[in-house]
Amino acid sequence: MAHLRPLLPRAGRAIEIGAGSGRLLIRLGRERPYRLVALDYAPYSLRAVRENYRRAKVDGYGLFGDARALPLRDGSFDVVLSGGLLEHFREPGEVVREMARVLRPGGLFYADIVPRKVSLYRWAERARMAHDEQLAEGIYESDLRKSAWRDVVRDAGLRDVRIASAGVYPPYTLRDHERLVWKYGGFLRALDGTPVADVLGFF
Ligand SMILES: C[S@@+](CC[C@H](N)C(=O)[O-])C[C@H]1O[C@@H](n2cnc3c(N)ncnc32)[C@H](O)[C@@H]1O
Repeated sequence: MAHLRPLLPRAGRAIEIGAGSGRLLIRLGRERPYRLVALDYAPYSLRAVRENYRRAKVDGYGLFGDARALPLRDGSFDVVLSGGLLEHFREPGEVVREMARVLRPGGLFYADIVPRKVSLYRWAERARMAHDEQLAEGIYESDLRKSAWRDVVRDAGLRDVRIASAGVYPPYTLRDHERLVWKYGGFLRALDGTPVADVLGFF
């Protein structure tokens, strides 16, 4: 939110693609009077989003759809965002082009991308991946670097591209993960934009 806040339009329509629980979209909705749309292809996500709208006391829609072929008109949103989505596609350009298509000229595109770096995630999830049929093939995590993501975004026709490294966290498999994040949050945030964040954080 600290990165986004200065760039946010005052009002308009905002959509999160691959919204999951809708946590980022809902935070935007609490800061600006946006018409919110959460899109996902998983029915359980849309149920979670509706419940989270209710709990956060914000109005919004849930929309079932595929990020690779959005069921939306060109230029219909002022803000188009995703979190933890693009790195799971072997061809992310296809999704970014769709996101750019539904963005109005001059609108704000935002994505946070957690690329495969040290992949603590894969290590932490190895037992679940081995036993869960749906995860048997593993979850695809792109290892594209910052400069490659810049090209993907530019190739989709987006301009004034800014990429920041941020979000250094202790491994979430640590029993005290949550407590450490709260206790050392200020220090961890101070690492945003540094070479440490380049190596350990997301974009
Ligand atoms: C890692 S979760 C991130 C959820 C949320 N954005 C967040 O930051 O917590 C990825 C989400 O993208 C959705 N997703 C994956 N592929 C999709 C596709 N092709 N179309 C729509 N949603 C998709 C999944 O169902 C899941 O909810």
